[in-house]
Amino acid sequence: MSYYIVKGDKILKGSVRVSGAKNSALKLMAASILSGGKVTLKNVPDIEDVHIMADVLRTLNARVDFDTEGHILEIDACNVDVFEAPYELVRKMRASVLVAGPLLSRFGKVKVAVPGGCNIGARQIDLHLKGFEALGALNSIEHGYVISSAKEGPAAGKPAGGRLTGASINLDFPSRGATENLMMAAVLAKGYTTISNAARETEISDLADFLNSMGAEISGAGTDCISIRGVKKLHGTAYEIMPDSIEAGTFIVAAALCGSDVEIIDAVWKNIEIFCLKIKETGININSTSKNSIRVKGLQKELKPVYVSTLPYPGFPTDLQPIIAVLLAVVPGISIITENVFENRFMYVEELNRMGANIKVDGHHAVINGVKKLSAAPVKAFDLRAGAAMVLAGLAAEGATEVYDIYHIQRGYENFDKKLASLGADIKLVNDTQINV
Ligand code: UD1
Repeated sequence: MSYYIVKGDKILKGSVRVSGAKNSALKLMAASILSGGKVTLKNVPDIEDVHIMADVLRTLNARVDFDTEGHILEIDACNVDVFEAPYELVRKMRASVLVAGPLLSRFGKVKVAVPGGCNIGARQIDLHLKGFEALGALNSIEHGYVISSAKEGPAAGKPAGGRLTGASINLDFPSRGATENLMMAAVLAKGYTTISNAARETEISDLADFLNSMGAEISGAGTDCISIRGVKKLHGTAYEIMPDSIEAGTFIVAAALCGSDVEIIDAVWKNIEIFCLKIKETGININSTSKNSIRVKGLQKELKPVYVSTLPYPGFPTDLQPIIAVLLAVVPGISIITENVFENRFMYVEELNRMGANIKVDGHHAVINGVKKLSAAPVKAFDLRAGAAMVLAGLAAEGATEVYDIYHIQRGYENFDKKLASLGADIKLVNDTQINV
């Protein structure tokens, strides 16, 4: 069992570079299944979730080579002949379900374990399945797996393994996962597809750009209506993954909490504008210094509380909700956070309260009464972002905080401890072998 020891009260200074976006890399890897040629992805983060997705692709008999030093990943999906994402892998990472759209689109059939809920909510996949059905697939759930197969067209009644047919799909909620899965499913379908009330996150545009670079015909990604003209096949490509906005936001809060002057490189202001503006509203000195860097001068004395309400993009990102909560925990006055995307995303609050924060949760609202200082305690990471939030709390607390269950953090942050240490943080990774010695 590895854990971090974080000693607080250090001043952070210098610059840190953000890695490639986890939530783009995973989708582009899944989308590579659609290609009949070799795909080269650049700026791929060396994180646990990417390794799990690589294992999912290998299970399908794709060839995957990951140069972790160079952050280059090569995928050759020419010989894919297995159409099943097994429970062992989907259980480890729910984004594995995103191989369903590409497999269904290219091969006309797929069997994927139903991911089930997780620590932040129920996280159903009903919108994905409804969309597959609209594209002419038959879905059934058997023994914990979704089995989907394409008919030639919704009315043709031909046997499974055929081609999907374009359709008009209207999502009940702008789910990112559903938008991505359906966009990938529609790419090789016959005819036109439109996805209305689509998610607008910047990673959706990254996925569309990637697919177009392989010969897909997608327009409107980044708006709430995406149009796709189905093509017969896709070719190989080389593509560089966009930087991770959530990692950028995490370093912004680290700097706001204890940074004298920190520059975050590959942090794109416009991708997390509403978050940056909220940070500014507290009184933190934050500016965009170029198209892809943000500078934060922390340690201001007079900070103000703010109200935060999470929403799908371009709203305040739910993934940065636990992160900003740590800052607001030490901003004098009453801040309120309303979580509108996931029903169970305040699990970390009790851990933060054990560190001296004063936060009360009522349904999907958290009322934060800012305290002067946090104090170190042993805490655990409930999920990826909540785990990063605990490390941030440790940076701002008096004493040495131990953060457990850090495998959650390692799923999505590359060298989190080393990057923070490079800014002057006192953070140590203690691993199994050290404990056993
Ligand atoms: C993605 C991100 C995650 C982020 C989330 C919201 C990845 C790998 N993960 O997750 O980090 O927190 O977007 O920005 O990219 N829903 C349904 N039915 C569905 C699909 C979704 O009810 O078929 C609900 C979910 O339960 C949730 C909400 O819609 O309450 C948002 O989910 P969605 O946008 O799909 O998030 P993910 O793609 O799973």
